[in-house]
Amino acid sequence: PVLIVALCFGAYLAGSVLFAIPVCRLWHLPDPRALGSGNPGATNVYRAGGWQPAVATLVLDAFKGWLPVWLSHIAGMSILVQAMVALCAVTGHMIPLFYRFKGGKGVATALGAGLALAPVTTGIMALLWLLIMWRWRISALASLVAVTSGPVISALIEPETLPLFGLLTLLIVVRHRNNLIRLAQGRETGL
Ligand code: G3P
Repeated sequence: PVLIVALCFGAYLAGSVLFAIPVCRLWHLPDPRALGSGNPGATNVYRAGGWQPAVATLVLDAFKGWLPVWLSHIAGMSILVQAMVALCAVTGHMIPLFYRFKGGKGVATALGAGLALAPVTTGIMALLWLLIMWRWRISALASLVAVTSGPVISALIEPETLPLFGLLTLLIVVRHRNNLIRLAQGRETGL
């Protein structure tokens, strides 16, 4: 149990590092919380500075989700514990200790955690994201479609991870509530 608590807390701390902020500093860009959607995530870093810092943010935010789940896996933890660790990392990104509990939407972190725990389901979700992005160029729409399809895909392919995808979907959709309102009003800006 001590190891489980340590893994969960470590995942929360890792998730609390919002890489959009140091990446923007490194690229001499404005704080992503002060422009565009105000979200400290890869999409908004793209608005601030283009592909390179956006990909750096995406990879680093995904890595902080992937690493603690992978560590739990090699420590021999059950799927349930690995799923808890994944949720802690995503929660860290959404409610970060280091940024006055004001965080991001959790998509990249969930991508990393999902790849560690359910690579086939997450891979299909990522393809869906790319497809919608390619067609409509609205990141929030791509994220919402990919994330809400997660529970269905996992139920079919990796059913032991269904509870994780159910909870991830709930958290991420709630974090996108303003995007949902803008999408419904046809005002979502996209990239
Ligand atoms: O993953 C975040 C994306 O879905 C929306 O970001 O900045 O357009 O609100 P943004």
